[in-house]
Amino acid sequence: PSIAALSDKRVLITAGPTREPIDPVRFLANRSSGRMGFAIAEAAARAGAQVTLVTGPSQLTAPRGVTRVDVETAEQMHREVLARAAQADLFIAAAAVADYRVAAPADQKVKKTETAQHLELVPNPDILRDVAALSDGPFTVGFAAETQAIVDNARRKLTDKGLDLIAANAVGEQQGFDVSDNTLQVLWSDGQATLGPAPKTQIASELIELIGARLDATG
Ligand code: PMT
Repeated sequence: PSIAALSDKRVLITAGPTREPIDPVRFLANRSSGRMGFAIAEAAARAGAQVTLVTGPSQLTAPRGVTRVDVETAEQMHREVLARAAQADLFIAAAAVADYRVAAPADQKVKKTETAQHLELVPNPDILRDVAALSDGPFTVGFAAETQAIVDNARRKLTDKGLDLIAANAVGEQQGFDVSDNTLQVLWSDGQATLGPAPKTQIASELIELIGARLDATG
C-alpha cells in the first residue's frame, strides 16, 4: 500500500558494512550483511518513495526501482550521502559504518614478521551526525546497535546526534548482524514502540509505516 507521507518523497538509505583498508589486500570490517537496509529500501519503494541506497559491500541485489550507489569505506559513504542529503526528504542510516579507519594504509602488502604489529586508527566522519546537523535537512532516522542498556544508549544517541527518530537493536554473534530476524526498539522525542521479533522484511515495512506516521504528525 502506498503511504501518503512517503509518496514521491526522496528517501536516502545507507546499508551494509564499510571496509577500511589496511593494505591492498586486507581490511577492517564488521558482520553487517545489508539485509536490514535493503529491506528498508524495498519497503520505502513499495510505499511510493524515490529511493537511493548507498551501500557498503553486500551480496544482496538492490530492490527493483531503487537507485544503488556502491561504496567501500566510511569516507566514501560520507561523500556519497552528503552529496545527496540536502535534496532528500528522509534519511535512514542502517549501515554499520566503521567508527575508525587505519591512519596510513600501506601501499604494498604488509610482510609477515616475527614481531607484534600495531595499527594506528583515526576516527571516521559521522555520516548520521552530519546529515542531522544540516539546516533544512531531511527527517533523520538513525540506528543504534547495542550489546547492553539498549534503550538508554539509543535515547542518548537520539539526543546527542539531534535525530528525529532512532531504531535500536541488540547485536551480538547471533543477533542483529547477518540474521534474518530482528527486534527494534524505536524511540522519538515523545514516544516509543517495539517492532518484532519478526523477519527484517516485515520489520522494515512496519518501520516505514511508523516513519510515515511521524512525518504526518510533524508536518
Ligand atoms: O546488515 P544486517 O546484517 O541486516 O545487520 C543490520 C544491522 C545490525 C547492521 C542494523 O540493524 C544496524 O543496527 N545498523 C547500525 C549499525 C551501527 O553502526 O550502529 P551504531 O550504534 O554504531 O551507530 C549509530 C548510528 O550512526 C547508525 O545509524 C550508523 O549508521 C550511524 N553512523 C555511525 C558511525 C559513522 N561514522 N557514521 C554513521 O552514520
